[in-house]
Amino acid sequence: SATRRALPAFATSARHYAIGKTALSAENGKLTARERIELLLDAGSFREYDAFVEHQCVDFGMEKQKITGDGVVTGHGTINGRRVFLFSQDFTAFGGSLSKTHAQKICKVMDKALLVGAPVLGLNDSGGARIQEGVESLAGYADIFLKNVMSSGVVPQISLIMGPCAGGAVYSPALTDFTFMVRDTSYLFVTGPDVVKTVTKEEVTQEELGGAKAHTVKSGVAHNAFENDVEALQRLRDFVDFLPLSNQEAAPVRYTDDPSTREDASLNQIVPVDSTKAYDIKDVITRLVDDSQFFEIMPDYAKNIVIGFGRMGGRTVSIIANQPLVSSGVLDINSSVKAARFVRFADAFNIPILTLVDVPGFLPGTAQEHNGIIRHGAKLLYAYAEATVPKVTVITRKAYGGAYDVMSSKHLRGDLNYAWPTAEIAVMGAKGAVEIIFRSSSDRATAEKDYISKFANPLPAAQRGYVDDVIEPSTTRRRIIEDLEMLRTKKQENPKRKHGNIPL
Ligand code: COA
Repeated sequence: SATRRALPAFATSARHYAIGKTALSAENGKLTARERIELLLDAGSFREYDAFVEHQCVDFGMEKQKITGDGVVTGHGTINGRRVFLFSQDFTAFGGSLSKTHAQKICKVMDKALLVGAPVLGLNDSGGARIQEGVESLAGYADIFLKNVMSSGVVPQISLIMGPCAGGAVYSPALTDFTFMVRDTSYLFVTGPDVVKTVTKEEVTQEELGGAKAHTVKSGVAHNAFENDVEALQRLRDFVDFLPLSNQEAAPVRYTDDPSTREDASLNQIVPVDSTKAYDIKDVITRLVDDSQFFEIMPDYAKNIVIGFGRMGGRTVSIIANQPLVSSGVLDINSSVKAARFVRFADAFNIPILTLVDVPGFLPGTAQEHNGIIRHGAKLLYAYAEATVPKVTVITRKAYGGAYDVMSSKHLRGDLNYAWPTAEIAVMGAKGAVEIIFRSSSDRATAEKDYISKFANPLPAAQRGYVDDVIEPSTTRRRIIEDLEMLRTKKQENPKRKHGNIPL
């Protein structure tokens, strides 16, 4: 009505502050904080909190510099109709740096997300702690860290790094479930190149030190990297669609035309007759999941194991698979840790686990032993053993030694354990075995043949019930979907305790 008061000018400018600064986009392909939200959420679904908030700092002339919103846009909205909470840091306001009020805004959405049971998505683009505020901003980080930890395993938390993320700022993404980066415009490091040079005399660029390549290939800190802001946000939408909103809810069901009874004859030939020949386990995965859609996580790190989400019969499945194409799919430190964390995420959020096994064992050598393969391999063992979600395992070929036990075996409460006819379940490969137990034999060739016919097949395990069935590979998809359907009412609990003590 005519008598209604118009919003004051500052209110409108607060909401559009970042959009006005599109110069940044032209310069380096980075979008503004609000443009990012527009792309991430369903159109028109964003509800903002605290757009009028200002910092309270009065030191270093800060009382004269106020930017409404204080460098972060927060609120909630929907992705494919499902609620998410988010914050999007605005590098154009004080370098996106974290003041006390900036931190309070983030904490407010984290609290709300926990209260209603919805994921928290953090779009990070910040120069770190607001230097003018000193310990106030450090306290702000700690408040966020504590909430990250309290939310862990309750609501999914995902970080998208879209600019700098340095110093204390890195530990919030590190505590979240998944960290994605944007190539060339984002970086994460505890200390920047200048400090590195002073302390260690190393000369290194920001990109080399903490760019997307450093973290998706070498450190394993980030779970994937995308070409630019637009692709990253689009992929984040796809990713969120695989996840439940909280540990109290099931992942969304996405109906598909891909029949659950679909058989794939090519799977019968996919494992080479020669057991030393490699094949790509991703060719198996894409033949099993709905519409060949597999969202791989950490595709460039520890490639000897493949992890990611797919759907089967419309429901999300977490997939862990040894990759014979890379180092024969051997388990080493990095692949064990990569898979262990994923198993724990899946278990925390009630997502069934499908494990495809083709593993020649743990990687031998001083490098692995001295860096703690025993401790790190134990993480994967622990994670599988404690997991109470439905666990279906298919041994496609090798399942040797301790690695057989680790990879979701019957003995670790695997619900359904299958072997393909090509499976070889034994303490080790025939050659190594014969060298030890027939060391003095003059006819090792015959001994090796005997060993192969006795152990390098799925029968001994099947005869003992350690694999439930030997199945024709072409029927694998329908078998798994039937099993997951049957296991939907699975209820299993571990003994009561404060928390377990996973070997860290
Ligand atoms: N506190 C307060 N203001 C900050 C800030 C911080 N931590 N980081 C950046 N800013 C401000 C800058 O003063 C600058 O303000 P201006 O536009 O008024 O001059 C603006 O944000 C942009 O920063 P700038 O340094 O020009 O951007 P850049 O792209 O060249 O560099 C960084 C980005 C992050 C590498 C650089 O700003 C930096 O090193 N910041 C400090 C990082 C740090 O050590 N933080 C503490 C860690 S806990």
